[in-house]
Amino acid sequence: MSFYTPNKAFAKNARVKNMCEYQELVDKANEDYEGFWDSFAKTKIDWFEPYHTVLDESNAPFVKWFDGGKLNVAYQCVDRHINTRKNKAAIIFEGDRGDKQIITYLELYYQVNRFANLLKEDFGVQKGDRVVIYMPMIPEAAFAMLACARIGAIHSIVFGGFSAEALRDRILDAEAKVVITADGAYRKEKPYMLKHVVDEALSGDTTVQKVLVVERNNEDVIWVAGRDYSYNELIKSKSSICKPEPMGSEDPLFLLYTSGSTGKPKGVQHNTAGYILWAQMTMEWVFDVKENDTYWCTADIGWITGHTYIVYGPLAMGATTVMFEGVITYPDAGRPWKMVEEYKINQFYTAPTAIRVLHKTGEEEPKKYDISSLKVLGTVGEPIDPPAWKWYYEVVGNAQCAIVDTYWQTETGGHVVSPLPGATPIKPACATLPLPGIIAEILDPKTGKKVGAGESGYMCITRPWPSMIRGVWGDSQRFEKSYFGDVKKDGKAVYFTGDGANYDKNGYITITGRVDDVINVSGHRMGTAEVEAAIKKHPNVAEVAVVGKPHEIKGEGIFAYVVLKSDSGIADELEEFKMINKVIQKEIGNIAVCDDILFAPGLPKTRSGKIMRRILRAIAKGEAITQDISTLEDPSIVEKIEMMIKRTKGTL
Ligand code: WT7
Repeated sequence: MSFYTPNKAFAKNARVKNMCEYQELVDKANEDYEGFWDSFAKTKIDWFEPYHTVLDESNAPFVKWFDGGKLNVAYQCVDRHINTRKNKAAIIFEGDRGDKQIITYLELYYQVNRFANLLKEDFGVQKGDRVVIYMPMIPEAAFAMLACARIGAIHSIVFGGFSAEALRDRILDAEAKVVITADGAYRKEKPYMLKHVVDEALSGDTTVQKVLVVERNNEDVIWVAGRDYSYNELIKSKSSICKPEPMGSEDPLFLLYTSGSTGKPKGVQHNTAGYILWAQMTMEWVFDVKENDTYWCTADIGWITGHTYIVYGPLAMGATTVMFEGVITYPDAGRPWKMVEEYKINQFYTAPTAIRVLHKTGEEEPKKYDISSLKVLGTVGEPIDPPAWKWYYEVVGNAQCAIVDTYWQTETGGHVVSPLPGATPIKPACATLPLPGIIAEILDPKTGKKVGAGESGYMCITRPWPSMIRGVWGDSQRFEKSYFGDVKKDGKAVYFTGDGANYDKNGYITITGRVDDVINVSGHRMGTAEVEAAIKKHPNVAEVAVVGKPHEIKGEGIFAYVVLKSDSGIADELEEFKMINKVIQKEIGNIAVCDDILFAPGLPKTRSGKIMRRILRAIAKGEAITQDISTLEDPSIVEKIEMMIKRTKGTL
């Protein structure tokens, strides 16, 4: 396999210019781990009060970074830029319908302060209170995040595609006091609504006292007296000065719910200092954004990528970040390239699923625009396939841009394995090497030993790092069990990501995907148990098992094996398919609907009653079953299911 070496002109001015510089950083971290982090924490963060301890591991896996320090993330992202960058664009917003806003750092400062004052004065939000944000991609969403950070409230953003039930679960789990939402927003030039979902989520018992509604599309909403308030009205009278709350390094910054291997999503907790430090450092190293650059990440703020790489990372380093409300293929697959041309975008960061769609539907589109401003192209969320990678590299990047295949997770807070654009020789679909300071290793799950060149194992991180997850909200046992239960190195529990990976002969890391019961649909993480729990709510369903199946665009699609109750009296499977997906839409949201449902006569189980998912996964993928099935409770079930699949081929 040949490598693509970094663009020479780019490398000359990059922050990390070659592999020698990369290795120096890696060595520094290996030789003096705390000294490495100390040197960056001291210089990158504007501390209100210095920390006394770099890393406290005495209570591992519950660790403390930069203990004793005081800082504020809104100050780090906004206030400290006011002297040198007050008239620089902080956020460039493009709406779905092409409407634009440029928000300078000074303007952002006032917006955040006023928002913070509103939360404090009108809603009584205090340090440590949880605020749920259920918002479209509009600048007010970023203001809301930073306003929470400014006053020490813990935000929990719920992706706008989640249903009322899913929103309700997250509100209750976090015991949120306030919800910030919008009437709705625009999608493909049409208004859509969000506020009614909040109304539904709050019906019945709730911890929420106040709802703040940003009026974006001015469609009619129902206002509940004493609970719902218009942001646009309240904000008018707010002072634009609000002192940032001095936060301890380990005070929580936000929660973000993500799927695991049980039916209940986990509230991943990130704290203040370590998170913002790594958000900023990875922005600088991995995207190598320069003072006059314009950077665009197409994620939604409902996911971790939107947190770290649309809002916190770019603003902490004083960059210009683009925020986009719309759909990247609307009105056509040239939309992103038109925006690149218009804003002279230098770094573009998106997901493989988007790259595949843009490739498939608009192969020639990039050529219609002047996209020569691009320097770094990023990808994240799932393994990217070589054809999509090559198109991205050759057609979008004109073979001049580095592709950074950034591997990380909600729990890691920021990138952990990724090329550096001025240093790392890259190869298609390969996340390459751990970033300096991140001790990421592929371990053999049985022995806990690092696997060799050409071998595969479990992707682990064997030392704590500053932006790592600090806890699962309200469930410290689940934190330990989910992440530190599976792999031990030298007898010590280490962080396991849930992903499988391999080393090539040069020691480069390729991520092969989840090895647990989590599937990755269009880069969105979905617990199969969560989807199963939703399907079980349908009264006709007796049993269900959900697995992933390769999907051309989404990466993985959702495949459910459903056993209906014998007395359910189902006549029409298509109707039943629709009904089940309706239940999923209600319980979780559109992102979790099944691509395929097979109505099976039973599920393959061991004699002790355990469902054999490995067999079901193989059948869904159309692979041969290598496992001995003679010990199953009823081996004939496997044959029956295989026959059914053969019969329905083409329709499934
Ligand atoms: C899971 C994390 C990280 C932000 C978006 C998703 C998969 C992520 C890559 C990559 C192969 C990747 C992993 C990981 N993943 N990046 N570059 N190559 N797989 O965050 O929802 O927490 O999902 O996404 O399976 O565990 P998330």
